[in-house]
Amino acid sequence: MRERRSKRAFLNTPVPMATVRRILSAASHAPSSSNTQPWRCYVVTGEARQRITDAAVAAYRANPETLPLQYPFFPKDLPAPFKTRFHTFRGMLGDAQGVERSDIVGRRRDVERQFRFFDAPVGLIFTMDRRLEWASFLCYGCFLQNIMLAAKAEGLDTCPQQIWWLQAAVLHGELGIPDGEMVIAGMSLGHADNRVPENNMSLAKLELDEFVSFIDA
Ligand SMILES: Cc1cc2nc3c(=O)[nH]c(=O)nc-3n(C[C@H](O)[C@H](O)[C@H](O)COP(=O)(O)O)c2cc1C
Repeated sequence: MRERRSKRAFLNTPVPMATVRRILSAASHAPSSSNTQPWRCYVVTGEARQRITDAAVAAYRANPETLPLQYPFFPKDLPAPFKTRFHTFRGMLGDAQGVERSDIVGRRRDVERQFRFFDAPVGLIFTMDRRLEWASFLCYGCFLQNIMLAAKAEGLDTCPQQIWWLQAAVLHGELGIPDGEMVIAGMSLGHADNRVPENNMSLAKLELDEFVSFIDA
């Protein structure tokens, strides 16, 4: 858990499909409310990965500001202390990538890298039955974390990517995802390229007493 970090640059070293299968199979042991197991995963590699990333980048270039969200994200006015944490993180990532906040071209280029799975050889796309509600998102988080930890155990790294929800139209079309499934997120999976600054950020995590209340009487 302490070793996992979101990585945003990957080597083109291949990942055997047997490893991907082991990771997803282990992750399927995640808990879920009444064992409902709301997850559905599409593994994209090879030519499919190329086709999808090309289509996603083209869709983003055609429409960089208004691709539709699949479910509510942050509130429009993010309250304290989340706003500060958000800006601290965005500032650190921008510094590591060498992109100023005002540099729209640079920021868009970095978003395009998101839609290329940061060059990772394996892309994962996650969907969930649209009829499910909030509780199933909690279960989904357990599944996603299991994947990321199982990947670490296999010597691999990941970046969870909610941003893929902006590409629902491309993904439904290219992957044949049924209308009844909602795109939840994506994930890059592979061997991290740790030579780049954005893969070496030291993000602050809360101290125990900042988020835990111990109550004993
Ligand atoms: C549900 C979820 C969605 C995320 N979506 C994205 C994303 O779309 N793009 C991205 O670069 N990072 C994404 N992240 C990674 C977060 O930015 C990252 O977890 C956070 O900054 C803390 O860094 P760490 O994962 O290295 O601890 C996401 C993380 C989670 C849990």
